[in-house]
Amino acid sequence: MPNKKSTLQSTILLLLLQVLNLINVTHVRCKSTIEPCSSTDSCNALLGYTLYTDLKVSEVASLFQIDPIALLTSNAIDISYPDVEHHILPSRLFLKIPITCSCVDGIRKSVSTHYKTRPSDTLSSIADSIYGGLVSADQLREANSISDPSVLDVGQNLVVPLPCTCFNGTDNSLPAIYLSYVVQPIDTLAALAARYFTTLTDLMNVNAMGSSAIDDGDILAIPIPACASNFPNYAADHGLIVPNGSYAITAGHCVLCSCGPRNLNLYCMPASLAVSCSSMQCKRSNLMLGNVTVQQGSGGCRVGSCNYDGFANGTILTALSASLQPRCPGPQQFPPLTAPPTTVPRASIFAPAPSPLSHGAGPLSPKSSVVPASGSFPGVQPANGPISGLTSGASYACSLLNPLPALTSALVFSLVKLMISMVL
Ligand SMILES: *[C@@H]1O[C@H](CO)[C@@H](O)[C@H](O)[C@H]1NC(C)=O
Ligand SMILES: *[C@@H]1O[C@H](CO)[C@@H](O)[C@H](O)[C@H]1NC(C)=O
Ligand SMILES: *[C@@H]1O[C@H](CO)[C@@H](O)[C@H](O)[C@H]1NC(C)=O
Ligand SMILES: *[C@@H]1O[C@H](CO)[C@@H](O)[C@H](O)[C@H]1NC(C)=O
Ligand SMILES: *[C@@H]1O[C@H](CO)[C@@H](O)[C@H](O)[C@H]1NC(C)=O
Repeated sequence: MPNKKSTLQSTILLLLLQVLNLINVTHVRCKSTIEPCSSTDSCNALLGYTLYTDLKVSEVASLFQIDPIALLTSNAIDISYPDVEHHILPSRLFLKIPITCSCVDGIRKSVSTHYKTRPSDTLSSIADSIYGGLVSADQLREANSISDPSVLDVGQNLVVPLPCTCFNGTDNSLPAIYLSYVVQPIDTLAALAARYFTTLTDLMNVNAMGSSAIDDGDILAIPIPACASNFPNYAADHGLIVPNGSYAITAGHCVLCSCGPRNLNLYCMPASLAVSCSSMQCKRSNLMLGNVTVQQGSGGCRVGSCNYDGFANGTILTALSASLQPRCPGPQQFPPLTAPPTTVPRASIFAPAPSPLSHGAGPLSPKSSVVPASGSFPGVQPANGPISGLTSGASYACSLLNPLPALTSALVFSLVKLMISMVL
């Protein structure tokens, strides 16, 4: 009798283990927020990227085929440093990569990035390591119609589809730019909300989440408050939007625009890089781009300014503005610049650091880095990437895509019940 009972017990235990294993397997499939689209317009967006190894500024830029200066300004790194494009950035540094988000096959994504394969690359190493989980091996295989992933030719030019969202450039009707963020093992949704000056509810709404649970490797869309532009349609940089706490370079490296910290009004001025530029003086005035004049009168303060109005046909467009304000504005404030980082602060590896902009370190302090906590430990890569465009349409997140865990918990529950009744 006791023998029979224990055989039954072990059979059930085995079953239980198998079910638990099933949970393990199904649980690691992760997802990204997908925005359906129909128009052909594009927008500015950001990718949250953690360096997989030490890389020069120019190497990171070429990995994503973007302008190295734009990479630096997006991360509020001082571009006046000598030879800054050849500066070596440390492994595990977290950077915001500025990209153009397009509408392809009905969903928002960026398809302007290509990667040339090198010896010993595999689809997984390209996806999980080199591109930090922003793309999955499956997405690479699909996008490049690779039938046999085990044979990658060296020098093969792969398109790297990258996740992005526009959501009309707004969040709760306020200007915002969206960061595609790969969830790291230590992240919680609440900590991410705090780090990016938003709320848990807002993140859950944006990502259409039913709960605040997130998994490693999930890709979230994080809205960052931003300064919107209002350039005419025909301007090459129409729709320029600059996230709070950073800069953008435009007009052929002639104009530098900033956003924050005091208000979210876009402020642009001459970039003073060594390039030849068209006139940056406002017509019928002696004001230059970015100049502001104030005149205190009895009725208030007369504020005049020469503003940037876009780049069209190689010409820097300017607009003179005049207004009467209750009080005269103080001098323009700028987001603090940091020196090109050489180390990843230890604290940021183990705990979610505050935003680089909120730690109040003075300009050019090398310690105030652009590293809001990559959660990855040395050598540990997220095991899994997102599943690509699985659904047609709606944005979804982990918990919604995964009906199986619920099913399996129910199964476990009934098995446990069964087992208890057997033993008794
Ligand atoms: C769960 O999955 C991980 C990797 O996906 C594996 O290393 C581990 O052994 C699995 N655990 C069980 C109980 O199967
Ligand atoms: C899109 O954003 C603009 C402002 O940038 C706003 O006027 C418009 O109502 C928004 N459209 C939708 C559908 O939210
Ligand atoms: C106007 O802007 C130019 C370029 O930024 C600057 O060199 C100059 O000092 C400014 N003049 C005034 C009066 O603010
Ligand atoms: C740009 O230049 C072309 C020809 O040089 C002209 O046809 C076009 O109207 C110009 N566009 C603007 C916005 O000035
Ligand atoms: C912009 O960033 C600064 C810190 O750099 C922060 O104090 C401010 O609240 C932010 N503004 C918005 C609207 O999030």
